[in-house]
Amino acid sequence: MVDTVILPGAEALTEQAIDPTLDLHAEIERLRRERKAVILAHYYQDGEIQDLADFVGDSLDLSRKAAATDAEVIVFCGVRFMGEVAKIVSPQKTVLIPDAEAGCSLEDSCRPEAFKAFRDQHPDHIALTYINCSAEVKALSDVIVTSSNAEAILAQMPADKPILFAPDRHLGSYLARKTGRDMTLWPGSCIIHEQFSERELIKLKTQHPKALVAAHPECPEGILAHADHVGSTRSILDFVLASPADSFIIATEQHIIHQMQKAAPHKTFIPAAGADGSCDCARCPFMAKNTLEKIYLALKNDAPRIEMPEALRQDALKPLQRMLDLSVNVNVSKPSL
Ligand code: 13P
Repeated sequence: MVDTVILPGAEALTEQAIDPTLDLHAEIERLRRERKAVILAHYYQDGEIQDLADFVGDSLDLSRKAAATDAEVIVFCGVRFMGEVAKIVSPQKTVLIPDAEAGCSLEDSCRPEAFKAFRDQHPDHIALTYINCSAEVKALSDVIVTSSNAEAILAQMPADKPILFAPDRHLGSYLARKTGRDMTLWPGSCIIHEQFSERELIKLKTQHPKALVAAHPECPEGILAHADHVGSTRSILDFVLASPADSFIIATEQHIIHQMQKAAPHKTFIPAAGADGSCDCARCPFMAKNTLEKIYLALKNDAPRIEMPEALRQDALKPLQRMLDLSVNVNVSKPSL
């Protein structure tokens, strides 16, 4: 795993040591200016983090932003692999993440040694790999994709070549169903999207017959079968804002509803539920590790900081750069809301 280091000699301030009377917003603002930092946040972050970020986006938008920023420091509020991507595309910058333990179940399901064996068993396949994986797995892949550019990139792969797709089997099978491509899938899944219940979705649709369903392609097929729109977090946001409908059932991590409510307060957004009928399953425990306190500490302590061996970075950059090059025509992000 890539290191998230505490700088040698730095006397790291801990959460407990933060003065409770401190105005965290003002301190973060001061440090952001002093450090020439940019704060990037995924739509799955808590609303207060989205609101203080310089840019909020999906995985593709955030990768592009990390590659293009002229800030000296990137504070990446998401999960660890997203911070790694920022470091891979912007090695000269300091990349901080609020919590080094903010992992990803998809990344955890796909260890580099096992992925290498998977590749070795399928030497004729193109390894198309979802961005939710470690830098090591990226380095073993041919092309990286996100949920917003996977279909467009797949369409650019030679039609006669079979595809290895890791680590999300639901996104992989969605792509195989849509494109008819020969795809061999790694058996991973996202613990959040995996838990949505088709039965509960049908109940919600019955209770809200006019509501449209928008789902992330990490959801199982039974959920996607009911969806009026399937796409990345940003495309879900674009869909609900552009749609003339007034109510929507949202089958993805529920913090994206924050942006929806801000941009369309007159519309109703209903989180999809798990098997027990609650929407608690729609909260990512890894994304939830980030807090304002930890953002303040990261800027103050210069840690946790993403570092990786240069050879690994260069190997991981190749398939990531291919992704950026092959998705130049995938729609450009709107300014954060
Ligand atoms: P997007 O950011 O591409 O919508 O994917 C969401 C996700 O999987 C974050 O882990």
